[in-house]
Formats: sequence, structure tokens, C-alpha cells
Amino acid sequence: MIKQAVIMAGGLGSRLKDKTKDMPKGFLEINGEAIVERSVKKLFAHGVEEVIIGTGHCSEWYEALAKKYAGIRLTKNENYAETGSMGTLECCAPLVKDSFFLLESDLIYDDIGLFALINDERKNILLASGKTKSGDEVYIEQTADGSLLKLSKNRDDIKNPAGELVGISKLTKETLTEMVRFAEKHHKDQAKMEYETAMAHVSANLGSKHKIAIKKINHYAWREIDDENHLESAIHTVYPLIIENESLRQVRREVLLNPGPATTTDSIKYAQVCADICPRETEFGDVMEWVSKELSLMVGEKGTIETVLFGGSGTAADEVMMSSCIPDDAKTLIVDNGAYGKRLAKIASVYKLDYTVFKSSEYLPIDVESLKKELSSGNYTHLAMVYHETTTGLLNPVPEIGRFCHERGITTIIDAVSAFAAIPIDMNKDCIDFMASTSNKNIQGMAGVALVFCRKDALEKTKNYPMRNFYLNLWDQYTYFNKTHQTRFTPPVQALYTLRQAIIELKNETISGRYERYTKCWNILVQAVDDLGLKMLVPREHQSHLITAIIEPESKNYSFDTLHDLAREESFTIYPGKLSDANTFRIANIGDIQPEEMERFVIFLKNYMKENSICS
Ligand SMILES: Cc1ncc(COP(=O)(O)O)c(C=O)c1O
Repeated sequence: MIKQAVIMAGGLGSRLKDKTKDMPKGFLEINGEAIVERSVKKLFAHGVEEVIIGTGHCSEWYEALAKKYAGIRLTKNENYAETGSMGTLECCAPLVKDSFFLLESDLIYDDIGLFALINDERKNILLASGKTKSGDEVYIEQTADGSLLKLSKNRDDIKNPAGELVGISKLTKETLTEMVRFAEKHHKDQAKMEYETAMAHVSANLGSKHKIAIKKINHYAWREIDDENHLESAIHTVYPLIIENESLRQVRREVLLNPGPATTTDSIKYAQVCADICPRETEFGDVMEWVSKELSLMVGEKGTIETVLFGGSGTAADEVMMSSCIPDDAKTLIVDNGAYGKRLAKIASVYKLDYTVFKSSEYLPIDVESLKKELSSGNYTHLAMVYHETTTGLLNPVPEIGRFCHERGITTIIDAVSAFAAIPIDMNKDCIDFMASTSNKNIQGMAGVALVFCRKDALEKTKNYPMRNFYLNLWDQYTYFNKTHQTRFTPPVQALYTLRQAIIELKNETISGRYERYTKCWNILVQAVDDLGLKMLVPREHQSHLITAIIEPESKNYSFDTLHDLAREESFTIYPGKLSDANTFRIANIGDIQPEEMERFVIFLKNYMKENSICS
């Protein structure tokens, strides 16, 4: 697993003259997007958590880019005009923690190259291609055992070229350290050293540990853009080829408008396709630890939240909380205003807990005053409620109730299965002690991981609570994981890899950015509902913007099953209602859904309603 990448982007790009006088080369645009931004996106999509960019010339462009992606880290080569690319790499080196990708900033490339390097077992390896005839080739000479011996732009220097250097490599931190050591020795006599010189030196002279293997893809689509001719061929020849190649690897698109599992990006789907691993290996323990830490940071200040992972669905997370976070002598108030509040009560009944149900309308907002009155009775030690009732799309006032509970010493247990990762939540500020979610809803991962978020002080209190079950016990799972970085039982390995990828993508989009995108899709949907004269079950101002329950039209021409089947033919999946006393169908707008796709869906919906004379 390669978690970091370094992009060397300090250079002046002088061969592109006016185009790069006031702009770094990486910001040349092809099809409306800066080439370096496209590269950064490809790196994130291949599981890179952090892209370190070594800047120099016009570094402010990179500062603006870093504001868009939380995973970008910048370091500036102040001396960029006097050094070569190695000077920039030296500035980046202290930030590198482990094996990493090394790239030049002025590249366009087919991302299959990253896949090939990730999946090659050799630790130091550079990407090479067949002949490009670009006019700026760096030829590779290899040793008898196939590793890098020499690099040169002069064809006559190289006896029998093993290929052309692309400018994408995978290196160990140790080899980088040796490259830096070599460069430091030559600061005086080779101030303008290029990174290729240092790479060739360590590979050829420092023994097997630092040998750099060569991965040649003969017909690889890539171009480094150093001058106008390169730019021309990049735009007209190479870029179209890259797009064609990459489109062949796209997974058939299904737009899931059901309330989860949600539509995922292709990079999340592909994150499952990786080398087999025994989950007891440290490498996998590190993945789980990172996942748990990053999830905790999304819902509270550093060091205050623990996220405990279980193999299971959202209901498993609910069951963990209800069975592990309530002592025998407690009395719990459970708010029921939909199917999932009912489920919390059902779990409480299975465990024979002492509880009372606070019943509320399934589509009208909770009567906060009467809930507060009940909570003030002094009868309750715990409150359990759902943040976002997925049954109807009703958003419950959890922060307000949470604060009220904490002022009275009542522990709060919240099912945020369909709220987390879309609605910004701070468990400390919102007074949530325990919170459940899952890997397959707004976080946009695959099904299989149950998430239990715990405020640390509340978690500590559960230490001596009765152990009512075995697999789903919170304290046991937490302490075992803390000690070993392993789960007690076999974890869903591939689901955890996709959850890791989902976190990388959410960190870059941000929770508020995601909610904004979801809201854009919701606005398109409700506009169509209005246009069609349909009615929604929940008053607009109490809706989550995530799921909409629409009252079914009364026309005899309407059939949910027909609507569903026709939608499915157009690659949309819609969902039936779940209420006993109202006929609804539900449209969720969570997951990797873009506003354009919602636009397409509403056109489909309008056509169905109009062609069947259901709505005008
Ligand atoms: C609020 C809420 N809680 C719990 C669940 C149950 O999750 P799962 O079906 O993953 O067990 C769901 C599922 O949609 C939900 O929306």
C-alpha cells in the first residue's frame, strides 16, 4: 500500500515561454483541467492518502490547489531557480514516511501505470515506456539483472535502451535518503542536479537494497509537457488515448436512489481489488487503526473519540450500543418516530432492558417540549434515538436533545446510521455519548463494517457493564483492538480497504461539501415533485435533504412496481415506502450521485407521470 506521493513542481518550465511565465507548468490545462490536478486526483483514487508537492516557481498556484484537497501538503524549494528537480525533492524528503510514488508535475498519464507499480512486488521501481518519439526522451540503460544503470537524454550515451523514462516511480524511504545524501555531497559541483542523476547513482552503486527495477509498458499512453510540441501532441494524440483506455476500465454505472448501500465511485470499487492479506498482519492492523482514527477525527476533537469497528451492518452497530452501553440498573427512554426508532426498542426488548418508548409522529417533527418534559421526570439514565429517520427523511433535533440530556446526566445513544458523513456532527458539542453508523451509506464505502463512535469518558464507564453477548461486545472489541490492532474475529478485509478509500475521498470532499452536493441533488428532486404537483410526507423544513418520502399519486395508472422496473432499465434504483399508514415511495440522494444524474432522473420521473396521465 502506497500512502504518500511526491510531486516535484518547483521548475520554471522556461521552454513553454509565455505560457509558464506566471504559472507553473502543472497548471497547463487539457480539456478544462490542470494536468497536475488530474494527476493528484489519480493518486488519491489509487489509495494515496497524502500528496506532497514540492513547489517553487509561482507557488501560490499550488497554495490555491491545496485549499481544494485536504490530502495535499506543500513544501517550497525557496532556491528553485538555482537547483534542479533534486533540490525540490530534497525539500520534500523530510515529509516522506515510507514507500512513496515520485512524479513529475508536467505529466499526463494513463492511471494503469500507478496500478502496475502498486501491484509489482519490487520495492524500488520506475515506469518505462516504449518509443514515444517525443523529441525529449530520457533513455534508460539497464544492468544484466534488469535494474537501472544509467539515464540519459542523449541516445548515443545509452547502448541498448531498455525503454524511456516516464517520470513515475515507486521508491522506498531508504532509497530516497541515499539519493538525498548523494545530492548533498554534490551541492557545490552539481547545484543543478536532476533527480534522475541521483536515482541512477543509487541504483547502480549502492547494492541490491537500492536497485531500481524497471517496469516497462510498451504501449503506455503518457506525455511529459516541456514545450509547445509536447502540448500539441498531449492534447490531440495522447490525452484522447488516455481517456479511451481509462473509459474501458469504468464499471457500469448504476445510480442507487435507495437509502443505502449507496452508489460508490469506481476508485472505491477498485479498492477491493488488491493483494490478499492475512488480517493479523501489522500492515492490515495499520489500515484498521488509520480508519478508526480518521473516523474519530470526523466527529470530535483529536483524542476525545474512539471508533470501534465490527464486521456487520448498521443494525449490528445499534445492537452493540444497546447491549454494551446500558448497565443493569438503568432506565432508558427510546424515541420511536419511525422504523429505526422501533428497531432500537426491539433490540432493547430482546436484551430485556428496562425502557420506555416515547412515541412520536412518523412524519411530523418531534414535540421537543414534551420530550424534554419526559426526560425531566428523573426516571431516565439513558436516551436512545435516531438522528435521521431513514423511513421518512425526517431529521430529529439530536443536538438540542443531547445538550438537554447532558445537563441532567443522561447518557445519549444515537443511531446516526444515515446521518453520519453527510450531516456535520461533533459528538462533544452535540452531547452524543455513543453513535452508530455503517460503511455503506453517506461515507460511500461498501457494506460490511459497523461503526460505533464513543466519547472516551462514556466508553470508560462501560468497562464493568454486564456482557450480554459475545461478538457484539463493545468493551472487549475496543480493548482487544487497542492492544493488538486486530479485531477479535475475522474482519471484512475488502470492506475495510474500501472504507479506507472512502475516507480518503471524504476528507477531500469534506462533510460539509458532501452535504452541499447532496442538497443540490435534493433541490432538483423537490423542484420536480412540486412541478408534478406531488406531495411530500415530511414538511420541507424538517427534511434531511438526504431522503425524500413522496406520497404516491392516487391515479389507477400509477404502480410503484412499474415505476421501479422502468427506472431500473434506465439504471436508477428507487425504493418503496416503509410506513403502515401512508403510501409513499422514497428517493434517496446519498452516495456518489451528481446533480446531472438527478436531473436525468427527474426527466425520467416526469415522463413516466405524464405519459401515463398520472400527473400533468
Ligand atoms: C437509521 C438507520 N438505522 C439502522 C439501519 C439499519 O442498517 P442495516 O440495514 O445496515 O443493518 C438503517 C438502514 O437503513 C438506518 O437507516
